[in-house]
Amino acid sequence: MEKTFIMLKPDAVQRGLVGQIISRFESKGCKLVGMKLIKVNRDVAEQHYAEHKGKSFFEPTVNYIMSSPVVAMVWEGKNVVVIARELMGATNPVSANPGTIRGAYGMDISRNIIHGSDSEVSAKREIALYFQPGEILEYPKAGEEWLSE
Ligand code: PPS
Repeated sequence: MEKTFIMLKPDAVQRGLVGQIISRFESKGCKLVGMKLIKVNRDVAEQHYAEHKGKSFFEPTVNYIMSSPVVAMVWEGKNVVVIARELMGATNPVSANPGTIRGAYGMDISRNIIHGSDSEVSAKREIALYFQPGEILEYPKAGEEWLSE
């Protein structure tokens, strides 16, 4: 089953938005298979944003996700990568639809609340960066048969 990596960034934790955001994923039907509160170190932060090295926002973005604890999660479900991106909304909260997480809770691209993998390939890389294989759980979830055939 498809998996995606989701991070609730330091601003989401500091502003007390963790419960509300997780609730959106649960209500949609996504299945939580991994979760932990962590402080990201520089090595992991730089690997996470490696494709942006050299861009003006690289260093500020690395410092931002290291600045305070984040919630790292793995969610599972049919088409969950795209579904999570739709729940999150546009990268810049200024142009994110107000019904989305960034549109509802964010004001600025430098504090955009949440990260989600942009493809299945990125998801595999990001999950491996933050989780050991044994930290991803397999379990039957009540009501799964009512989400899709
Ligand atoms: S881009 O524009 O295609 O390079 O952007 P993207 O691949 O969507 O992700 C860029 C990540 O860096 C964060 N960030 C910014 N992006 C663009 N411009 C500015 N000024 C900026 N500041 C920070 C952005 O939130 C993306 O991180 P994630 O964690 O994926 O949200």
